[in-house]
Amino acid sequence: MAEDVIESGGGGHPPPLELVGVSKSFGGVAALRDVSFTLESGEIHGLVGENGAGKSTLMKIIAGVHTEFDGIMKIDGREVRLASARDALHNSIGMVHQELSVVPDLSVAENVFLGSQPVTAAGTIDWRRMNREAKKLIASLGLDIDPTTRMGSLPVGLQQLVELSRVLFSGARIIILDEPTSALSPPEVARLFGVLRKLRAEGHSLIFISHFLDDVIDISDRITVFRNGRKVATERVADLDKHKVIGYMIGRHSAELHMGEATELKSDDKKPIVLDVENASDGSVLESFSLSLRAGEITGVYGFMGCGQIELARMLFGKLPVWKGALKLDGRPVRFPSTAAARRAGIAYLPENRRMMLFRSEPVYKNVSIAILDRINRFWLKPDKERAITDAHIKDLQIRPPLNSALLGSLSGGNQQKVALAKWLTHLPKVLILSEPTRGMDVGAKEDVIRILKSLRDRGVAILVLSTEPETILTLADRVTVMKKGKVAREFAGRHLEKSDLLAAA
Ligand SMILES: Nc1ncnc2c1ncn2[C@@H]1O[C@H](COP(=O)(O)OP(=O)(O)OP(=O)(O)O)[C@@H](O)[C@H]1O
Ligand SMILES: [Mg+2]
Repeated sequence: MAEDVIESGGGGHPPPLELVGVSKSFGGVAALRDVSFTLESGEIHGLVGENGAGKSTLMKIIAGVHTEFDGIMKIDGREVRLASARDALHNSIGMVHQELSVVPDLSVAENVFLGSQPVTAAGTIDWRRMNREAKKLIASLGLDIDPTTRMGSLPVGLQQLVELSRVLFSGARIIILDEPTSALSPPEVARLFGVLRKLRAEGHSLIFISHFLDDVIDISDRITVFRNGRKVATERVADLDKHKVIGYMIGRHSAELHMGEATELKSDDKKPIVLDVENASDGSVLESFSLSLRAGEITGVYGFMGCGQIELARMLFGKLPVWKGALKLDGRPVRFPSTAAARRAGIAYLPENRRMMLFRSEPVYKNVSIAILDRINRFWLKPDKERAITDAHIKDLQIRPPLNSALLGSLSGGNQQKVALAKWLTHLPKVLILSEPTRGMDVGAKEDVIRILKSLRDRGVAILVLSTEPETILTLADRVTVMKKGKVAREFAGRHLEKSDLLAAA
């Protein structure tokens, strides 16, 4: 015991939580390398780092989700080895996970008390007490929800708040919030921060993870930055600002700028606008969003997960109505009541889950020709013609294996993406919208896709690339809009643009 007290800095009490030399890998790939981390009592500790930096992995170790790791974990100076998430709860550690983990078919109150329902003297669940207390707890987050409402019927933002209230009021002394604000509106975030400060004042210790750096700086006492599985800094907020944090995140002070870290935007305002989005709202996420797509340009839209990119794509492709605002195609107002209408107007959409647009049990040539059948022959399929066109694409795009008869489902993800793109090469759309066009591809496949998109652009297509990865945007875009919580946060055109600019704007 005495040693522990000295280790913690001689302040009398050991810190409530301490990790020493923690490493963790998944199937030989290191997610955390030799990380040491201390959480003081009564502090809000912010955790930041790029996607994949290792934040959630460390938190899952603390919360007993990952039980296999190297290194030491101490609670109140006492070395522990948690066996499960339940074990973490018994040690007064509560975590709200990045992925919403509510039970949609249970009521709001049941979700709040999941696993710890109040019981009557007879040992049955005390429904009245449970509903009454659930209502009180969620009211402290400013919510007025009937606790008997089915969870799944609430909007995602409210579900997130209910889940937060479950952990915040569980009595846990150590509370971990992994990306809790992505679906919350500014007033909801403000209310949440009020609750976090109150918990801090009561002596709880909190870890707050977010990609919204302004929020992290606002709420935290200290901030720890992760990069590539390593802890690169822990500093008091008073000694930090946004740019310093971003510098730590991307390692600009130590590291070189390499591909995808910066670009010269080649936007050209003389190019004609093909599709104009004017102050569009979808009634939920998108708010007065404006964007102009020009012929022969790739416009990049960058933002964090949940910022509204998916809704934007769906709106432009006729899957979501334009609730307010307008769309104009070639200067004329348009409406896309269906995806068929959008397609007829010349809009093509390649969603991130490209499997939805492909036929896995059909050969490659069928997948390529599906968009162009009406060009080949409206009534009679001509397999020879289909195959010939496909062969040209297979060669051009270096699709592997180079067989037009291979079943699509047998191709690697990168090659499937090339097939998905191939059909637009014959049937040039006016506007091509892509979500995460190069995610999960190897370097070679990525280069092929980049080359295809740039050649489509040079043939006059107006291209919209939506991505949460700065590298993708910096590699492809000629102009960039940064999207934040459904709104335009910033636009970049005709200038030098770096990754840190994107991170700072989002
Ligand atoms: N269950 C798992 N199996 C295999 N690999 C994993 C698993 N969980 C995480 N990883 C890998 O570990 C690394 C760190 O991931 P982690 O989820 O901790 O990142 P993060 O910092 O939380 O990122 P984000 O900001 O995107 O949430 C990544 O390379 C990820 O792919
Ligand atoms: Mg994470």
